[in-house]
Amino acid sequence: MDDGTPDEVFADLKSRDLGAWGVAQIAAGTGLAVYAMWVGILQPGFRKVPLRLQVPYIPASKAQVQNVMTLLRGRKGGLADLGSGDGRIVLKAYQQGFTPAVGYELNPWLVRLARFYAWRAECHDKVSYRREDLWKVDLTECKNVTVFLAPSVLSLLQDKLLAELPRDALVVAGRFPFPDWTPCRVEGHGVDRAWAYSVKTLRDNSQNKDELTVTERDDERTKEEGST
Ligand SMILES: C[S@@+](CC[C@H](N)C(=O)[O-])C[C@H]1O[C@@H](n2cnc3c(N)ncnc32)[C@H](O)[C@@H]1O
Repeated sequence: MDDGTPDEVFADLKSRDLGAWGVAQIAAGTGLAVYAMWVGILQPGFRKVPLRLQVPYIPASKAQVQNVMTLLRGRKGGLADLGSGDGRIVLKAYQQGFTPAVGYELNPWLVRLARFYAWRAECHDKVSYRREDLWKVDLTECKNVTVFLAPSVLSLLQDKLLAELPRDALVVAGRFPFPDWTPCRVEGHGVDRAWAYSVKTLRDNSQNKDELTVTERDDERTKEEGST
């Protein structure tokens, strides 16, 4: 096998019986490589984030990015992508006219990768990627927000967004919708789908709901008083 061509080497390897020990070695090696990748590349930045809030990196598909951009059409001003990964949404948003376009991402490798992609697209001074925890970002000035996060995280994020965003803000979620919100528009199908939410409508709806609850409570009290 020493001086064989690659084909001969491969054929020789194929003909060898690996045995249980060989299989165990390969499994252990693969496990170690996956663990090293998790600890070294995907995990950094998440040490201070509670496990239930950690969202793994999965890049948005091309169709998903397109659907997000379609929902943002006609909007102006700045945009923030919360959990920006390799920065693809931020870059597209800048190219669609949003400025400032900012990505918040905890993983330092992804922040570097996003900056590299921005540099390659000659937009490095036009977009920014900040290594920050999205839960600590002040969103009071943000008119357009995009997210692609796990449903469990979205249910907690709803409160922060409703409390901080300006009334004329639009939130666009990719792949997973916000569990308790009614979208004003939906674009695309399956895993590429995106949902848009108007903060003004969400606030008005929740105020109407509160008012209804108070009225129902008053009605019940009046009934109780009438029956005594
Ligand atoms: C599903 S990926 C989406 C990436 C990108 N927005 C896209 O659409 O391609 C979610 C990203 O959120 C980041 N992330 C999760 N929790 C975060 C946090 N607390 N602060 C900042 N980034 C976070 C992850 O590192 C990951 O890159």
